[in-house]
Amino acid sequence: MIVFTEIAALKAHLRTERFAAAHEGKVLQVGFVPTMGYLHEGHASLLRYARKNNDLVVLSIFVNPIQFGPNEDFDRYPRDPDKDKHLAEREGVDVIFLPSVEEMYPQPTKTIVRVEELTERLCGAARPGHFDGVTTVVSKLLHIVSPNRAYFGQKDAQQAAVVAQMVNDLNMDVEIVPCPIVREEDGLALSSRNVYLEPEQRQAALVLSRSLRDAEQTVRENDQITAGEIFRQITRSIALEPAAQIDYVEISYFPSLIALPDSMSVKDAEGDILIAVAVKFGATRLIDNIILAKEVS
Ligand code: PAF
Repeated sequence: MIVFTEIAALKAHLRTERFAAAHEGKVLQVGFVPTMGYLHEGHASLLRYARKNNDLVVLSIFVNPIQFGPNEDFDRYPRDPDKDKHLAEREGVDVIFLPSVEEMYPQPTKTIVRVEELTERLCGAARPGHFDGVTTVVSKLLHIVSPNRAYFGQKDAQQAAVVAQMVNDLNMDVEIVPCPIVREEDGLALSSRNVYLEPEQRQAALVLSRSLRDAEQTVRENDQITAGEIFRQITRSIALEPAAQIDYVEISYFPSLIALPDSMSVKDAEGDILIAVAVKFGATRLIDNIILAKEVS
């Protein structure tokens, strides 16, 4: 495993690897997992998907300042590069890209990549500018690594949809591979931010996965249940948890993120449905979701 901190050195290495493969008559397949580090089993599962389907796996670890708002947790975002390197080694990563902020942004960027509409609701409403920061850095990283495939966790379903839209709109030659949410045994979706939770907040946070699971069950049992009724069921169940403060509960088509009308029966929806929640426990904001795939008849 090689660790690069400089863009030019990483590009030169990838050029050499591609050239060597071409020399043997092969096209090197590069899988890329972009992260902000503090890796957990959710990231490990992305690395495993990448390892399985590519010749070379690149992992980036970069806490991207431009996707954090002024009052967000950029400074205190957890970082542990040594532990990350061990996990990466364990998962068979070939290359880690670990740039500094100065390397990625030698001067403030004057170019922002913005995906319209998809970024305005859900997390975009509460975190203005967040997705511009994400799409700008992901676009930079994709240009640097030029992977065949890039892997994104479905816990950030909106992020995965926004990045897929960007790649499509900009004709970028990369396949965006969404990967399933990884959960603790008790249902809590893995997140680097879980480390902020006090034990009682962590316990309270189980309301997210529980309310989503219950909603899925309700949809399965009741053909006529409407989006509005599901919204109220989830909202009521989260509100019963005193430590939880709801940021949003949204029921929308996926990946367009267009809201389902309240009166629409979930079973009648023309496409996959995303039920997404964002809830604060003290200063820690957690997100979770489920996607109800449209049954094809
Ligand atoms: O999901 C993340 O960790 C980040 O938003 C990403 C995609 C690495 C961009 O900074």
